[in-house]
Amino acid sequence: MKGWKRMTILVTGGAGFIGGNFVLDWLAQSDEPVVNLDKLTYAGNLQTLAPLEGDARHVFVRGDIGDRACVDALLAKHQPRAVINFAAESHVDRSIHGPGEFIHTNVVGTFQLLEAVRGYWQALPQADKAAFRFLHVSTDEVYGSLAPQDAPFAETNRYEPNSPYSASKAASDHLVRAWHHTYGLPVLTTNCSNNYGPYHFPEKLIPLVIRNALAGQPLPIYGDGQQVRDWLYVGDHCSAIRRVLEAGRPGETYNVGGWNEKANLEVVNTICATLDALKPRADGQSYANQITFVTDRPGHDRRYAIDASKLMRELGWRPAETFDSGIRKTIEWYLANQDWVQSVESGQYREWVAKQYGETA
Ligand code: NAD
Ligand code: TYD
Repeated sequence: MKGWKRMTILVTGGAGFIGGNFVLDWLAQSDEPVVNLDKLTYAGNLQTLAPLEGDARHVFVRGDIGDRACVDALLAKHQPRAVINFAAESHVDRSIHGPGEFIHTNVVGTFQLLEAVRGYWQALPQADKAAFRFLHVSTDEVYGSLAPQDAPFAETNRYEPNSPYSASKAASDHLVRAWHHTYGLPVLTTNCSNNYGPYHFPEKLIPLVIRNALAGQPLPIYGDGQQVRDWLYVGDHCSAIRRVLEAGRPGETYNVGGWNEKANLEVVNTICATLDALKPRADGQSYANQITFVTDRPGHDRRYAIDASKLMRELGWRPAETFDSGIRKTIEWYLANQDWVQSVESGQYREWVAKQYGETA
């Protein structure tokens, strides 16, 4: 980073789960300021950023990545050396109920953001132009679903998205790629597996199960619970993004994963066993007794697995956490931060739970 004139990064979606963790980690390790642009949808929570209150290195702006005037003004004012795009609609089940917002933010929003960034970048002095990066945070779900014996997803796999969410992310990845090939914008794309960790909104499997277990409610498993995901601790995803930003080759994509393939039922049983040890139920029974099999998700992808060896080989990244260490940290965090969970359980959250699971979950 030495010698770069510009010393600010613009993060979008930094009040969400991964973006929030990224901003907190970034400012714990560096004094480079962060401008944080977030629309504060149901998934964005300022309480996640409360530790940064009064910290001059963090500038929070409520706004939409699709709002050209807003993004143009931020770029002109703060002159960042990089933009990291976390902002997205991110929940598969919500994309099935209502895909419109996914197209609005993930596709049209990314397009507008790319256009604003292109205008800013083209006008930079040569040295700053060469050093500039646009890092797009994406998902392994763009590659579709694997059969049990298939090799994990490599960066060369064909895109075969199956849900409105993954299709909208695939579309955004294509736009990012095209802005590099056509206009020369120095882009980097990361495709990561399922994250878990602190500040994870309790609509996704792991935080939902922790929340429902503690509330004495059913733990809903879709279908037979044998769908496989690769799980990565969010802090390890953040370190991968920092490393790609620092040393990734413009125009390249990097898969990020934890070498932790697990069936959903196994994940839920591990959470129950950990909670049994850390906070036993009053009646002495296991939390696993609350497991309930519910109707499967339409078009549910059977298996994701990711080959992150390019990132490891080329940039020397590797995850610090195993699934066992990461899930324990996560559960301990939720036990110690019940006030955060309560603060994000707005009326909108309760409406979602009623729509998706009926009144009982
Ligand atoms: P999240 O839903 O927790 O957070 C998204 C954030 O973006 C929220 O703060 C929201 O307010 C903000 N946002 C939404 N629309 C916006 C808009 N139009 N303009 C500005 N801000 C907007 O999501 P997350 O889990 O933190 O995921 C972050 C990124 O990482 C997403 O792009 C997602 O596709 C990708 N990703 C997530 C995972 C995962 O397991 N969660 C895995 C791989 C990749
Ligand atoms: P999720 O956390 O929504 O992530 P994604 O769909 O992006 O992988 O779901 C993880 C897995 O858990 C997925 O296979 C769906 C399943 N699942 C359940 O079985 N029950 C639930 O209540 C939820 C939210 C997810």
